[in-house]
Amino acid sequence: MYLAPDGVSRGQWKTRLGFILAASGSAIGLGNIVFFSANAYRFGGGAFYLPYLIALFAMGIPVMILEFGLGNFTGRAFPESLYRIAGKKGEFVGWWAIFNAFFITMYYITILGWVFGMLTGAFGDLWKESLPVPAFGLEEGVLDNPYAYFFRMLSTWQPVLFVLLVWIFNVIIVRRGPETIEQATRIFVPLMWIFMIVLIIRGVTLTNGFEGVMLLFTPDFSVMKDSAVWQGAFSQIFFTLSLGFGIMTAYASYLPKKSDLTQNAFITSFLNCGFEYIAGLAVFSILFAFAMVPRASTLAMMFFILPKGISQLPGGLQAVIPFGTMFFILLLLAGLTSSVSLVEALVSSMRDKFGWSRWKTITVAGCFGFIGSAVFALPQIVNPGLQDNGTLGFTILDFVDHWAFSYGLLIIGLFECILVGWIMGADTIRAHLNSHSRMRLGIWFDALIKYIIPLALLFVLGYSIKNEITDGLYGTAFSENYNEPYRFMRYFPGIVLAFWLLSSTLLSLRLTRKGKYESS
Ligand code: PHE
Repeated sequence: MYLAPDGVSRGQWKTRLGFILAASGSAIGLGNIVFFSANAYRFGGGAFYLPYLIALFAMGIPVMILEFGLGNFTGRAFPESLYRIAGKKGEFVGWWAIFNAFFITMYYITILGWVFGMLTGAFGDLWKESLPVPAFGLEEGVLDNPYAYFFRMLSTWQPVLFVLLVWIFNVIIVRRGPETIEQATRIFVPLMWIFMIVLIIRGVTLTNGFEGVMLLFTPDFSVMKDSAVWQGAFSQIFFTLSLGFGIMTAYASYLPKKSDLTQNAFITSFLNCGFEYIAGLAVFSILFAFAMVPRASTLAMMFFILPKGISQLPGGLQAVIPFGTMFFILLLLAGLTSSVSLVEALVSSMRDKFGWSRWKTITVAGCFGFIGSAVFALPQIVNPGLQDNGTLGFTILDFVDHWAFSYGLLIIGLFECILVGWIMGADTIRAHLNSHSRMRLGIWFDALIKYIIPLALLFVLGYSIKNEITDGLYGTAFSENYNEPYRFMRYFPGIVLAFWLLSSTLLSLRLTRKGKYESS
């Protein structure tokens, strides 16, 4: 077993099941429950499936195999793994991935803080017909619930407290690395499946519920020409499988050398996509039964549209409170098993580099992470009309998400394929993977990693950048509506892009130059 630079064991999963629960717990998150369905709806129900399945088999599963292989081959987290196969330029890509992932962690935890806030409302206020939202100048009766509850909460400092709580949960779960993560996921992951199944049964047995399910499977092939569908499917696959974050590499570094990595990757991917698929049944049936049209935004789906559907379940408050509470607990559990994996990916990378103790690393990560998450929870009102995102924090979150999610993950995927495929050699990693796997990867794996995936990613990224240039930077159009003191936010889309790119690049360069990895 490898030691961390401070001489302490890096840790190891106790059982294979523990690893699979943790890896699938990371993969199954908010992405599965709401983002997938929101995307599927936006891109025309069944039309999303074809690009999605192609992306899963041609890209998602191979990249997952690659990330597992890399972590297990080197026994290290992402930056050092890439350093070992490709030197400093590899390490730079590794840190860049970790910083991109850290941005995502920060806002992911803010979203979980909001989920926590909604959960506290689910015992009562959330289900009232309407509530006053004074900060937005809205009196009772003007804004329906759950919109009203959500924006009312957002315009206070309360979410900062919830965010702090969620960070504390994360720190508690990762405190002893794989050991404590395994303990938590053993409880959380099975619970998630149970809650999901209960929601599905409720959804599809609603009058008209089943028609919603049909909608999910009715294809509309006309949208397939649209590059946005492909970008949507590619980003969704990376995000939902937790690829491009350095997570799967960190997790596989805690596996014994003799593990069957290929099979583990298939199992993890199928568990994740199976969960996503059945979550679609619950979401579409509830939406359809109450004839609601979700707006494109995924967060709207999570915080207003589905809760609105739940609030109309037959049986009055006696049914609404238990199902509503269960929905938010489900989101919280799914989100926590994902966010801990992000925190662990960062912690293990820092420990590999600096040899800090686990506690010191977690404290540093937790403090910076909490500050970042608090920024996304800033309650100042930038848009009183409640078009767009309403508060300052939410607006910043939307812009950061646009870059880190839709571009960052794909850029990292592109570089990791190039580094492993061309510099390390796809055949070298394939030999390692095949040495302990029942299923043997053929030469097709090399072709995917070296040519097909990088080309597909380049194509999708190129298209997105072109649209960004022709349509104007994301967010510029709607920042015209902001409140007086926030008019400067016209420049915000550009500022956020520059901040994201520069901070990740400069910090990565700095860390790459610092210190040296042990040669063991
Ligand atoms: N796979 C997660 C999801 O679907 C995404 C994620 C991974 C988020 C890791 C945070 C950390 O929600």
